[in-house]
Amino acid sequence: MAEGKVAGSSESPGVMSDLLSEICGSPVSVALIGIICFLLYKIVKSRRKVPAPQPAELDLPKLRKDFNVEELRKYDGTQPDGRILVAVNGKVFDVTRGKRFYGPDGPYSAFAGRDASRGLATFSVGGKDEYDDLSDLNAVEMDSIREWEIQFTEKYALVGRLLKPGEEPTNYSDDEEESAAAESQTEKKNE
Ligand code: HEM
Repeated sequence: MAEGKVAGSSESPGVMSDLLSEICGSPVSVALIGIICFLLYKIVKSRRKVPAPQPAELDLPKLRKDFNVEELRKYDGTQPDGRILVAVNGKVFDVTRGKRFYGPDGPYSAFAGRDASRGLATFSVGGKDEYDDLSDLNAVEMDSIREWEIQFTEKYALVGRLLKPGEEPTNYSDDEEESAAAESQTEKKNE
């Protein structure tokens, strides 16, 4: 028993200092720790002063529309209505309720009004300015984008598609008429 204790207490400081010198000796580890601390700081900071949602944000009308990259850019949360859109894997989501993440002071504000796919897959907050076809990403990165897409689908409202240059937008008013008709049919059946 006593031996074990002695061995344990004499080993741990050595292990700790080995670990510390290994971490501090590698510029990559130091950079990663820096990034982690920065992101944690930004998240804690944005959580502390969670601004009460502006009435305008709560009442924002549902948006159903396709966007090209330039049109999407406007929706970065700096407009008076505060709406924030983010594209993931070709789909545009309304992430206004995630303002503490994507709002101008949030840790992921660089995704606001943009296609976040590449950034999410490559762990870097940012992306290209022009349309990104993601064709150079590998299978693992594409899988990660699909997982993020599922996560966004579960949490946020889908607004439309991110259009390739020259691609025509979908006319969603037809869909809405169809779903309104389907709803009134269901209501009649239930009566
Ligand atoms: C060490 C680094 C990181 C830490 C400690 C961290 C931590 C967190 C935490 C605590 C949340 C909030 C989760 C919640 O309350 O639901 C979050 C959300 C998020 N993180 Fe990170 N994160 C890190 C790096 C990254 C990187 C590199 C990316 C992508 C480039 C990323 C993308 C996101 C996104 C998009 C959300 C918001 C998801 C949503 O809308 O619900 N994170 N992160």
